[in-house]
Amino acid sequence: METASNIPAIKFAKSNGSRFVEELKTFLRIPSISTSPEHAVDVRSAAEFVATELRRIGMQNVRLIETTTAAHPGGHPLVYADHLCAAPAAGGKSAPTVLLYGHYDVQPPDPLDEWKSPPFEPTERDGNLYARGAVDDKGQMWMHVKALESLLASNEGKLPVNVRVIIEGEEEVGGEGIAAFVRQHPDQLAADVALVSDTEMFAPDLPTLCVGLRGMIYTEIEARGARTDLHSGMYGGAAPNPFMALVEIIAKLKDDTGKILIPGFYEKVATPSAEELKAWKSLPFNEEEYREAEVGSTQLTGEPGFSVLERTWSRPTLEVHGMPGGFIGAGAKTVIPARAIAKISMRLVPDQTPAETFALYKSFVESICPAGITLEVRLIHAGDPIVVSTDNPYVHAATSAMHDVFGKDTVYVRGGGSIPIVGDFIRELKIPTLLMGFGLPDDNLHAPNEKFHLANFHRGIESIIRFLSNITAS
Ligand code: BES
Ligand code: MN
Ligand code: MN
Repeated sequence: METASNIPAIKFAKSNGSRFVEELKTFLRIPSISTSPEHAVDVRSAAEFVATELRRIGMQNVRLIETTTAAHPGGHPLVYADHLCAAPAAGGKSAPTVLLYGHYDVQPPDPLDEWKSPPFEPTERDGNLYARGAVDDKGQMWMHVKALESLLASNEGKLPVNVRVIIEGEEEVGGEGIAAFVRQHPDQLAADVALVSDTEMFAPDLPTLCVGLRGMIYTEIEARGARTDLHSGMYGGAAPNPFMALVEIIAKLKDDTGKILIPGFYEKVATPSAEELKAWKSLPFNEEEYREAEVGSTQLTGEPGFSVLERTWSRPTLEVHGMPGGFIGAGAKTVIPARAIAKISMRLVPDQTPAETFALYKSFVESICPAGITLEVRLIHAGDPIVVSTDNPYVHAATSAMHDVFGKDTVYVRGGGSIPIVGDFIRELKIPTLLMGFGLPDDNLHAPNEKFHLANFHRGIESIIRFLSNITAS
């Protein structure tokens, strides 16, 4: 819906679009890799970059909130801002408050040699901006900031609704800092609805709301055998090998059809409604094309009897990410390592819980520990699976905004990934969350050559401007 108030903001966004992209490039040059302690300074300077910009565009109460505590050492700061003086809505009701969420941290860029241009030197090619964090989530978060700037700059420093902004720097490592803040200070984030742009569109040109995300537990199994590393000729045959132990354990976690073998693992898994499953069948999706264009493998794997969308959206999975330890340099070294680690995560779906699932996993792993090996099974981080309700007026404000921009009706999908804080918004703040993302399926999130399709960056800004303007009109 075009109201008189939102057109100037869209004009502003259009005539400043190339400046917005240049600013995003400056932001993307900061290697804010939250998982790497050696990048802590960069993570903080990314937070400061965002805070400085929020101040410049006219947001209020802009501040960094520290998250480090004894229980959470090395926490990265949150960025907070608000603007809470919107004119009352029609009928004298106070204007609603929107909570905008994003994250300024990024995943590590490796393997570096597979990038066509360096991950922290943002480069435009074919209408795309390539850089680590381009779409996940610096570019999408920047759309929020630029939508706010456009509204403030074109309407005498006023916004159509009250806005709070909370941006974290630990999403890619589980988001413990923000979760503690939400639990301790729900009043400081009081709002009527949260808007998150950290997901994908189902297909190019197809406006999308994500209505479910998988949860996760990220774990490490550390196996120890001998007291110290040993010569594999002198001791091989008599000494236990922690890598072999981990391989034996991992082989028992999942069968060759993709079924997870941890007793009780599937007990709480809910089946999506018949209606939802039917809607997924009508989405434009071709498994063969997905295999070829997105996955690039000779075959797809996974549980028989479930479509790819079911396997990635509504079924849990277990993956091995890496096995640090032993000798991984060039050449050969004959060693039996004293210890080895496997990094293993599980994606969870409603109504599984991280705590229960971790307990089942830990006791199963311990029960199949090979002789001569001692194990430590650690939980690194966790997040709840979520489904969001679409039964609220904000959903209509969002789909109508996107209809104006894309000229198409919105499709409702789920996402296979996780955004841990969304569960806390629903549970602790008791507000609906809109997952309105503008990434594309081939944007290479977490992989080499991550990109953001620049047309979607601009359409995202326009959609957010229209969404914020629609809320008061509806
Ligand atoms: N933005 C992603 C999550 C996502 C991607 C959801 C695509 C839906 C579609 C987010 O930044 C992410 O990668 N989350 C991590 C969370 C984890 C480390 C707790 C993930 O899913 O691995
Ligand atoms: Mn993200
Ligand atoms: Mn991510």
